[in-house]
Amino acid sequence: MEFYSEKQQITANVDAFKAKQLTIGLVPTMGALHEGHLQLVKKALEDNDKVVVSIFVNPTQFDNKEDLEKYPRTLNSDISLLKTVSEDHIIVYAPTVDDIYEGKTVSQSFDFDGLEFEMEGKFRNGHFDGVGTIVKRFFEIVRPHNAYFGEKDFQQLQIIKKLVEKYRIPVNIVGCEIYRETNGLAMSSRNTRLKPAYKKAAPFIYKTLTTAKERFGTNSAGKVLEWVENQFAEHDLLALEYFIIADAETLKPVTRKSNKKLYRAFIAVYADDIRLIDNIALN
Ligand code: PAJ
Repeated sequence: MEFYSEKQQITANVDAFKAKQLTIGLVPTMGALHEGHLQLVKKALEDNDKVVVSIFVNPTQFDNKEDLEKYPRTLNSDISLLKTVSEDHIIVYAPTVDDIYEGKTVSQSFDFDGLEFEMEGKFRNGHFDGVGTIVKRFFEIVRPHNAYFGEKDFQQLQIIKKLVEKYRIPVNIVGCEIYRETNGLAMSSRNTRLKPAYKKAAPFIYKTLTTAKERFGTNSAGKVLEWVENQFAEHDLLALEYFIIADAETLKPVTRKSNKKLYRAFIAVYADDIRLIDNIALN
């Protein structure tokens, strides 16, 4: 498996592959890889000759210093896990903060047509400027044909599509379904930090989402919202930060249902001090 940490190296290698007419996929990650990430990598391997997996804990997308410091960094086991998927077709790109930010660890400011002000944007200051900055930089360094993002971070996926459209970046964005534990909990690097009681409680989040979906068939969004809020008000361990039913394209909260639109429910919950997010398609 090839491994690079300098941008000149990765750019030169990708250029050499492109000269041979090979297609390149990119899967950006922050490491601490789990089966959810591997699903993206597997999909990328089906579609491309070579797949660059970037592993980089991006400081500019964290609004909380402690969260950044505590973020798990497990490069060796990440590489071992990737080797179980493919030895020959994966290229790991794990740059240093300096190589990416060249001494200026700041974000560019973006206008994502309002997508950045909804949900996560309200609760995580500057988060999407940080994500936009790093993903744009990776697109410039790697110049992939296809790039893969999980619906787990649905708002991020929509924002990346907007980034590519606005900056006319020649890359095809592929969204991948949420991969879950057998108990329904969406896989996340943060799950490993859950204390046992919270780990046991956390599948309640997806269970609530699936019932909310059923209820949305016959109830107004307002009624479903009220029901979900009550579910969490009665819960001892999980604290609801937000539950929103939104238009899947604009991410604006739905006021009146229309048959012509696609809706999605989005949720953020605190399990102790660990923040978990999830979402589900409603129609
Ligand atoms: P990270 O949280 O490591 O996630 C990397 C990619 O894996 C994202 O596209 C995310 O949506 C996807 N992913 C994570 N868990 C998933 C699951 N259970 N099912 C499906 N996909 C899943 O998202 C980031 O990193 C960063 O913001 C990044 C895009 C790398 C920029 O720094």
